[in-house]
Amino acid sequence: MTPLIEMKNITYRAGNRSILNIPEFQIESGEFLGIMGPNGAGKSTLLKLIAFLEKPSGGEILYRGETIPSGNAPLELRRKFSIALQQSLLLDGTVFYNIAIGLTLRKVPKSEIKEKVTRWLELFGISHLAKKNALYLSGGEAQRVNLARAMIVEPEILFLDEPFSALDFPTKIKLMEDFKEIISTTGTTAVFVSHDLMEIHYLTNRLAIIVGGEVKQSGPTPRVLEHPNSSTQSFLNEWKKFYPIAR
Ligand SMILES: Nc1ncnc2c1ncn2[C@@H]1O[C@H](COP(=O)(O)OP(=O)(O)O)[C@@H](O)[C@H]1O
Ligand SMILES: [Mg+2]
Repeated sequence: MTPLIEMKNITYRAGNRSILNIPEFQIESGEFLGIMGPNGAGKSTLLKLIAFLEKPSGGEILYRGETIPSGNAPLELRRKFSIALQQSLLLDGTVFYNIAIGLTLRKVPKSEIKEKVTRWLELFGISHLAKKNALYLSGGEAQRVNLARAMIVEPEILFLDEPFSALDFPTKIKLMEDFKEIISTTGTTAVFVSHDLMEIHYLTNRLAIIVGGEVKQSGPTPRVLEHPNSSTQSFLNEWKKFYPIAR
């Protein structure tokens, strides 16, 4: 089957410095892909390239087998994607307004917006916050709004960059549980960047480990975590000391 997204010979440089070097990389429809690696490995840069938010220095990116002009993805394609970052970047307005934004921009009729926002508020357990100003939420609440805002447009691919990293542990696990349930119902393809082995282990079914701008290992998440290779073991074994999923 043709992959949803395919990268070929992708490079990314900042000045003289090579930040990424990805000979080939694919996103398959329906998968929950994790991209994990140490700080500065190039995870966020890779995510931005896959989401057509950043232009590669070289190489090509294909969507459903078709090359997309570098740095010039058409609006209709970009509208198939949603992105949620660590900072929720909510706007000054109610929670309802924030969650509705994607639909408002797409000129969806008001009655349909109301119906959908009501449903997504419920799914994320934040109906009681609908009328609150989004700038005055707790971290966990804000991230729920952020994820609901990303999901409501029913994206073909959901891109997530460390959305749980700033949350305290109990808040994080509650949100991750709810989120996992929601995404398993919608079946949305997801690309999830995290440095955190617990999050990756809990959420993803395929995993790519990136170190120094290169994908050093990829495969089904349990297999990668159980059998690190010579390039990924020093990073993974540090985590496994404190989170012994497998040895
Ligand atoms: N536009 C840029 N200019 C200069 N350096 C950059 C730029 N974007 C990223 N980098 C550098 O590239 C490396 C990878 O960054 P990033 O993708 O944010 O890593 P990660 O998300 O894995 O922590 C870092 O060393 C970062 O400083
Ligand atoms: Mg990052």
